[in-house]
Amino acid sequence: MKTVTLLASLACLSFSDAAPNVQPGSIGAQCRDVRIHERTNWLIGDCRTDPDDIDSPRITTGTWLVNKIWNNDSALSWNGGDYQSSCSNCTLLYSGSVLSCECKPNTGAKQTSWLNLDDHIGIYLGHMLSDLYGPPTIPTTPSKYPFPSTPRYSVNGNLTCIDPEAPPAPTPTWPPPPSDGYDWCGPKGNPKQCVDAATNSTNLSGWLIENGPVRECYVPWELEPAVFNQFQLKAEGAWELTGYADKKCQRKLITIGPEMRGLCHDLKGEFVRAYTARPLFDGDPN
Ligand SMILES: *[C@@H]1O[C@H](CO)[C@@H](O)[C@H](O)[C@H]1NC(C)=O
Ligand SMILES: *[C@@H]1O[C@H](CO)[C@@H](O)[C@H](O)[C@H]1NC(C)=O
Ligand SMILES: *[C@@H]1O[C@H](CO)[C@@H](O)[C@H](O)[C@H]1NC(C)=O
Ligand SMILES: *[C@@H]1O[C@H](CO)[C@@H](O)[C@H](O)[C@H]1NC(C)=O
Ligand SMILES: *[C@@H]1O[C@H](CO)[C@@H](O)[C@H](O)[C@H]1NC(C)=O
Repeated sequence: MKTVTLLASLACLSFSDAAPNVQPGSIGAQCRDVRIHERTNWLIGDCRTDPDDIDSPRITTGTWLVNKIWNNDSALSWNGGDYQSSCSNCTLLYSGSVLSCECKPNTGAKQTSWLNLDDHIGIYLGHMLSDLYGPPTIPTTPSKYPFPSTPRYSVNGNLTCIDPEAPPAPTPTWPPPPSDGYDWCGPKGNPKQCVDAATNSTNLSGWLIENGPVRECYVPWELEPAVFNQFQLKAEGAWELTGYADKKCQRKLITIGPEMRGLCHDLKGEFVRAYTARPLFDGDPN
């Protein structure tokens, strides 16, 4: 019976691709075991695929809170980020629909703040998605990849320190003094070359560790002439990492999916200067 209901709603969905008529369900009502992953600040729950059937199959699904919530002078607020850097002791109330933290005001002692997560995070046929970056795209089926125990990954590769497109060195001495206090191109950076790892490696040692999706083009080294001549994704979970030759992410060079994780991918004389990343497990790509 419940399968029929789910298939019926999925069928409706595919007939109205442009505007799926799925209302977001509330986190507390449709998910159980709602938790915040301590190290990465993902909100995760086991949510039912049929809003009307409490026995329907459940999906482990989640959304990253760090790029959505900020601390506005001790008040947890939407349309910002990084709340976790100035808030602590966060807990979930009302079965996961409300986030409560102790947050630092601009001056003075921490205060308790609450945020109704249902305002911008909903359950759509079992998928926890946010509408902060536009109407969510609802997947038609659950992912074949499990939700990882740590939804974190690292971006690595062999960093070469002289970008052929970088402007010439301003002084006769190369390299120039590091602009951000760390010389990525100096002796400390150079020896770190790409080493193949297990497909699902949990050893994320590498250049850049990310805890959530990178929706918009990210250029790790704006000021240093540092680029990858080999590119690598390390993750326990199924992430997809896309590397681009230019700093506006217009020329795609490589997409590393779950099956190609761990390995060092040679770029055949080209260089990755920017990237984007999204989860292929049932995680909100926004
Ligand atoms: C921050 O909170 C103050 C006080 O409630 C409010 O007036 C202001 O609009 C908020 N800032 C933003 C960017 O939402
Ligand atoms: C966090 O919670 C603990 C136990 O409830 C309490 O002792 C501590 O003072 C709280 N910390 C802050 C910063 O509120
Ligand atoms: C890594 O890059 C350096 C230049 O920075 C290059 O000398 C070295 O051959 C590269 N290693 C591999 C395996 O491509
Ligand atoms: C990684 O893959 C190996 C071999 O397929 C498997 O034994 C191991 O359980 C996997 N580890 C994780 C964390 O998924
Ligand atoms: C993690 O991987 C790096 C190379 O990528 C290696 O040097 C290091 O020994 C590894 N650490 C562990 C604990 O396996």
